[in-house]
Amino acid sequence: MENMDDGHVLVIIPTYNERENLETIIGRVRASAPEVDVLVADDASPDGTGEIADRIAAADGQVHVLHRARKEGLGAAYIAGFRWGMEHGFDVLVEMDADGSHRPEELPRLLSALDGNDLVIGSRWVRGGRVENWPKNREVLSRGANTYSRLMLGIPVHDSTGGYRAYRATTLQKIGIDDVSSHGYCFQVDLTLRTVRSGLRVAEVPITFVERTHGASKMSRAIIIEALQRVTQWGLAYRLGQLTGRGTR
Ligand code: GDD
Ligand code: MN
Repeated sequence: MENMDDGHVLVIIPTYNERENLETIIGRVRASAPEVDVLVADDASPDGTGEIADRIAAADGQVHVLHRARKEGLGAAYIAGFRWGMEHGFDVLVEMDADGSHRPEELPRLLSALDGNDLVIGSRWVRGGRVENWPKNREVLSRGANTYSRLMLGIPVHDSTGGYRAYRATTLQKIGIDDVSSHGYCFQVDLTLRTVRSGLRVAEVPITFVERTHGASKMSRAIIIEALQRVTQWGLAYRLGQLTGRGTR
Protein backbone atom coordinates (compact mmCIF):
# COMPACT_ATOMS: atom_id res chain seq x y z
CA MET A 1 0.00 0.00 0.00
CA GLU A 2 2.58 2.55 1.09
CA ASN A 3 4.99 2.06 -1.77
CA MET A 4 3.25 0.57 -4.74
CA ASP A 5 4.05 3.69 -6.79
CA ASP A 6 7.73 3.25 -6.14
CA GLY A 7 7.77 -0.28 -7.50
CA HIS A 8 9.55 -3.25 -6.08
CA VAL A 9 11.46 -2.53 -2.85
CA LEU A 10 14.41 -4.51 -1.41
CA VAL A 11 15.70 -3.91 2.11
CA ILE A 12 19.37 -4.91 2.36
CA ILE A 13 20.60 -5.86 5.84
CA PRO A 14 24.38 -6.36 6.09
CA THR A 15 25.35 -8.68 8.93
CA TYR A 16 28.45 -9.62 10.82
CA ASN A 17 27.75 -11.53 14.05
CA GLU A 18 24.12 -10.49 14.46
CA ARG A 19 22.75 -13.83 15.64
CA GLU A 20 20.66 -12.32 18.43
CA ASN A 21 19.18 -9.59 16.23
CA LEU A 22 18.42 -11.08 12.82
CA GLU A 23 15.11 -12.81 13.39
CA THR A 24 13.63 -9.83 15.22
CA ILE A 25 14.67 -7.26 12.63
CA ILE A 26 13.39 -9.31 9.70
CA GLY A 27 10.10 -9.92 11.50
CA ARG A 28 9.69 -6.19 12.10
CA VAL A 29 10.42 -5.34 8.45
CA ARG A 30 7.94 -7.92 7.21
CA ALA A 31 5.27 -6.60 9.61
CA SER A 32 5.89 -2.92 8.87
CA ALA A 33 6.04 -3.20 5.07
CA PRO A 34 4.64 -6.55 3.92
CA GLU A 35 5.28 -6.01 0.17
CA VAL A 36 8.96 -5.40 0.67
CA ASP A 37 11.61 -8.10 0.13
CA VAL A 38 14.64 -8.52 2.40
CA LEU A 39 18.21 -9.45 1.46
CA VAL A 40 20.65 -10.42 4.22
CA ALA A 41 24.26 -9.79 3.12
CA ASP A 42 26.31 -11.87 5.53
CA ASP A 43 30.12 -11.91 5.58
CA ALA A 44 30.49 -15.51 6.81
CA SER A 45 29.74 -14.48 10.40
CA PRO A 46 31.50 -16.86 12.81
CA ASP A 47 28.47 -16.79 15.14
CA GLY A 48 26.21 -18.55 12.63
CA THR A 49 24.15 -15.55 11.49
CA GLY A 50 24.29 -16.89 7.91
CA GLU A 51 22.64 -20.19 8.87
CA ILE A 52 19.89 -18.37 10.75
CA ALA A 53 19.31 -16.26 7.63
CA ASP A 54 19.07 -19.42 5.50
CA ARG A 55 16.52 -20.89 7.86
CA ILE A 56 14.35 -17.74 7.73
CA ALA A 57 14.68 -17.56 3.93
CA ALA A 58 13.62 -21.19 3.54
CA ALA A 59 10.34 -20.38 5.30
CA ASP A 60 9.66 -17.00 3.63
CA GLY A 61 9.88 -16.46 -0.13
CA GLN A 62 10.43 -12.71 0.34
CA VAL A 63 13.62 -13.19 2.34
CA HIS A 64 16.90 -13.83 0.49
CA VAL A 65 20.49 -14.39 1.56
CA LEU A 66 23.76 -13.34 -0.03
CA HIS A 67 26.65 -15.28 1.48
CA ARG A 68 30.01 -13.56 1.15
CA ALA A 69 33.31 -15.32 1.70
CA ARG A 70 34.91 -13.02 4.26
CA LYS A 71 34.50 -9.81 6.24
CA GLU A 72 35.12 -6.97 3.80
CA GLY A 73 33.34 -4.08 5.47
CA LEU A 74 29.94 -2.51 5.29
CA GLY A 75 30.56 -0.78 1.96
CA ALA A 76 31.51 -3.92 0.05
CA ALA A 77 28.53 -5.82 1.50
CA TYR A 78 26.14 -3.07 0.38
CA ILE A 79 27.64 -2.85 -3.12
CA ALA A 80 27.17 -6.61 -3.53
CA GLY A 81 23.61 -6.25 -2.20
CA PHE A 82 22.80 -3.38 -4.58
CA ARG A 83 24.07 -5.43 -7.54
CA TRP A 84 22.00 -8.43 -6.50
CA GLY A 85 18.92 -6.24 -6.12
CA MET A 86 19.29 -4.54 -9.48
CA GLU A 87 19.95 -7.85 -11.22
CA HIS A 88 16.72 -9.12 -9.69
CA GLY A 89 14.72 -6.14 -10.95
CA PHE A 90 14.18 -4.16 -7.74
CA ASP A 91 13.42 -0.45 -8.23
CA VAL A 92 14.25 0.76 -4.71
CA LEU A 93 17.18 -0.39 -2.57
CA VAL A 94 17.03 0.30 1.17
CA GLU A 95 19.94 0.16 3.63
CA MET A 96 19.15 -0.95 7.18
CA ASP A 97 21.30 -2.08 10.12
CA ALA A 98 20.51 -5.47 11.66
CA ASP A 99 20.72 -4.32 15.27
CA GLY A 100 17.43 -2.42 15.54
CA SER A 101 18.99 1.05 15.40
CA HIS A 102 17.01 1.74 12.23
CA ARG A 103 13.40 1.15 13.16
CA PRO A 104 11.49 -0.75 10.44
CA GLU A 105 8.32 0.98 11.62
CA GLU A 106 9.72 4.18 10.08
CA LEU A 107 10.33 2.55 6.69
CA PRO A 108 6.97 3.54 5.12
CA ARG A 109 7.82 7.17 5.90
CA LEU A 110 11.23 6.86 4.20
CA LEU A 111 9.66 5.25 1.16
CA SER A 112 6.97 7.94 0.86
CA ALA A 113 9.67 10.61 0.89
CA LEU A 114 11.22 8.99 -2.18
CA ASP A 115 8.35 10.47 -4.15
CA GLY A 116 10.06 13.30 -6.04
CA ASN A 117 13.50 12.41 -4.67
CA ASP A 118 16.37 10.16 -5.72
CA LEU A 119 17.79 9.38 -2.28
CA VAL A 120 16.15 9.55 1.13
CA ILE A 121 18.34 9.59 4.23
CA GLY A 122 16.87 8.80 7.64
CA SER A 123 18.50 11.60 9.59
CA ARG A 124 19.43 11.91 13.25
CA TRP A 125 20.62 15.47 12.86
CA VAL A 126 17.66 17.36 11.40
CA ARG A 127 14.75 18.81 13.39
CA GLY A 128 12.75 15.93 14.82
CA GLY A 129 15.63 13.45 14.54
CA ARG A 130 16.90 11.81 17.73
CA VAL A 131 19.25 9.22 19.15
CA GLU A 132 18.31 6.96 22.05
CA ASN A 133 20.82 5.38 24.45
CA TRP A 134 23.78 6.31 22.28
CA PRO A 135 27.00 6.81 24.25
CA LYS A 136 27.99 10.47 24.37
CA ASN A 137 31.30 9.75 22.62
CA ARG A 138 29.47 8.22 19.64
CA GLU A 139 27.17 11.22 19.41
CA VAL A 140 30.10 13.62 19.48
CA LEU A 141 31.90 11.57 16.82
CA SER A 142 28.86 11.45 14.56
CA ARG A 143 28.02 15.15 14.92
CA GLY A 144 31.68 16.04 14.35
CA ALA A 145 32.01 13.79 11.31
CA ASN A 146 28.85 15.24 9.81
CA THR A 147 29.83 18.86 10.41
CA TYR A 148 33.28 18.20 8.97
CA SER A 149 31.82 16.46 5.91
CA ARG A 150 29.27 19.20 5.29
CA LEU A 151 31.83 22.00 5.45
CA MET A 152 34.65 20.14 3.72
CA LEU A 153 32.56 18.80 0.86
CA GLY A 154 30.10 21.66 0.55
CA ILE A 155 27.07 19.39 0.60
CA PRO A 156 23.79 20.45 2.22
CA VAL A 157 23.25 17.17 4.09
CA HIS A 158 23.12 16.92 7.89
CA ASP A 159 23.52 13.15 8.29
CA SER A 160 25.76 12.02 5.46
CA THR A 161 27.12 9.14 7.57
CA GLY A 162 23.64 7.84 8.37
CA GLY A 163 23.02 4.28 7.31
CA TYR A 164 19.21 4.19 7.07
CA ARG A 165 18.43 5.16 3.48
CA ALA A 166 16.39 4.46 0.39
CA TYR A 167 17.94 4.72 -3.08
CA ARG A 168 16.16 4.53 -6.37
CA ALA A 169 17.90 1.98 -8.61
CA THR A 170 18.21 4.77 -11.19
CA THR A 171 20.23 6.78 -8.66
CA LEU A 172 22.72 3.96 -8.20
CA GLN A 173 22.95 3.55 -11.97
CA LYS A 174 23.66 7.26 -12.43
CA ILE A 175 26.25 7.65 -9.68
CA GLY A 176 28.02 4.40 -10.56
CA ILE A 177 28.91 1.86 -7.90
CA ASP A 178 31.56 -0.16 -9.70
CA ASP A 179 34.43 2.08 -8.62
CA VAL A 180 33.48 2.60 -4.98
CA SER A 181 36.45 1.66 -2.82
CA SER A 182 35.28 2.96 0.58
CA HIS A 183 35.20 0.03 2.96
CA GLY A 184 33.85 1.27 6.26
CA TYR A 185 31.22 3.80 7.25
CA CYS A 186 32.66 6.49 4.96
CA PHE A 187 30.93 4.47 2.26
CA GLN A 188 27.81 6.37 3.31
CA VAL A 189 29.50 9.75 2.81
CA ASP A 190 30.96 8.56 -0.51
CA LEU A 191 27.55 7.71 -1.97
CA THR A 192 25.94 10.85 -0.54
CA LEU A 193 28.60 12.95 -2.22
CA ARG A 194 28.21 11.13 -5.54
CA THR A 195 24.45 11.64 -5.42
CA VAL A 196 24.68 15.37 -4.68
CA ARG A 197 27.41 15.91 -7.29
CA SER A 198 25.32 14.09 -9.89
CA GLY A 199 22.66 16.74 -9.40
CA LEU A 200 20.17 14.29 -7.94
CA ARG A 201 17.62 15.14 -5.26
CA VAL A 202 18.40 14.14 -1.66
CA ALA A 203 15.80 14.37 1.12
CA GLU A 204 16.45 13.91 4.83
CA VAL A 205 13.61 12.69 7.01
CA PRO A 206 13.96 12.68 10.79
CA ILE A 207 14.39 9.30 12.49
CA THR A 208 14.88 8.04 16.00
CA PHE A 209 18.12 6.03 16.06
CA VAL A 210 18.00 3.48 18.87
CA GLU A 211 21.27 2.02 20.13
CA ARG A 212 21.48 -1.77 19.94
CA THR A 213 20.75 -3.88 23.01
CA HIS A 214 22.36 -7.12 21.73
CA GLY A 215 25.78 -7.72 20.20
CA ALA A 216 28.52 -5.18 19.56
CA SER A 217 29.20 -2.31 17.17
CA LYS A 218 31.82 -2.96 14.49
CA MET A 219 33.02 0.63 14.62
CA SER A 220 36.81 0.74 14.91
CA ARG A 221 39.74 3.10 14.88
CA ALA A 222 40.55 1.95 11.32
CA ILE A 223 37.04 2.90 10.18
CA ILE A 224 37.39 6.39 11.68
CA ILE A 225 40.81 6.93 10.11
CA GLU A 226 39.63 5.78 6.69
CA ALA A 227 36.68 8.19 6.88
CA LEU A 228 38.79 11.14 8.01
CA GLN A 229 41.39 10.55 5.31
CA ARG A 230 38.92 10.10 2.50
CA VAL A 231 36.65 13.02 3.39
CA THR A 232 39.70 15.26 3.65
CA GLN A 233 40.99 14.01 0.30
CA TRP A 234 37.62 14.50 -1.43
CA GLY A 235 37.27 17.92 0.17
CA LEU A 236 40.69 19.11 -0.93
CA ALA A 237 40.13 17.85 -4.48
CA TYR A 238 36.84 19.72 -4.52
CA ARG A 239 38.35 22.97 -3.21
CA LEU A 240 41.22 22.72 -5.66
CA GLY A 241 38.72 22.20 -8.46
CA GLN A 242 36.84 25.32 -7.35
CA LEU A 243 40.06 27.34 -7.32
CA THR A 244 41.20 26.23 -10.75
CA GLY A 245 37.69 26.40 -12.15
CA ARG A 246 37.67 22.76 -13.11
CA GLY A 247 34.64 20.74 -12.09
CA THR A 248 35.58 17.80 -9.93
CA ARG A 249 33.86 15.52 -7.50
N1 GDD B 1 28.34 -7.92 5.95
C1 GDD B 1 28.92 -7.05 6.79
N2 GDD B 1 30.30 -6.89 6.73
N3 GDD B 1 28.16 -6.35 7.65
C2 GDD B 1 28.78 -5.47 8.49
C3 GDD B 1 30.17 -5.26 8.49
C4 GDD B 1 30.97 -6.02 7.56
O1 GDD B 1 32.20 -5.92 7.48
N4 GDD B 1 30.46 -4.31 9.42
C5 GDD B 1 29.29 -3.96 9.98
N5 GDD B 1 28.26 -4.66 9.43
C6 GDD B 1 26.83 -4.59 9.72
C7 GDD B 1 26.45 -4.87 11.16
O2 GDD B 1 26.29 -6.24 11.42
C8 GDD B 1 25.15 -4.07 11.29
O3 GDD B 1 24.06 -4.78 10.79
C9 GDD B 1 25.42 -2.85 10.40
O4 GDD B 1 26.43 -3.25 9.48
C10 GDD B 1 25.89 -1.62 11.18
O5 GDD B 1 27.02 -1.95 11.96
P1 GDD B 1 27.20 -1.45 13.47
O6 GDD B 1 28.50 -1.95 13.94
O7 GDD B 1 25.99 -1.73 14.29
O8 GDD B 1 27.30 0.13 13.21
P2 GDD B 1 27.23 1.31 14.27
O9 GDD B 1 25.99 1.21 15.07
O10 GDD B 1 28.52 1.39 14.99
O11 GDD B 1 27.16 2.53 13.23
C11 GDD B 1 25.98 3.11 12.73
O12 GDD B 1 26.27 4.44 12.61
C12 GDD B 1 27.27 4.73 11.62
C13 GDD B 1 27.71 6.15 11.74
O13 GDD B 1 26.66 7.03 11.72
C14 GDD B 1 25.55 2.59 11.38
O14 GDD B 1 24.22 3.02 11.11
C15 GDD B 1 26.45 3.01 10.23
O15 GDD B 1 25.81 2.71 8.99
C16 GDD B 1 26.70 4.46 10.28
O16 GDD B 1 27.59 4.86 9.25
MN1 MN C 1 24.69 -0.39 15.33
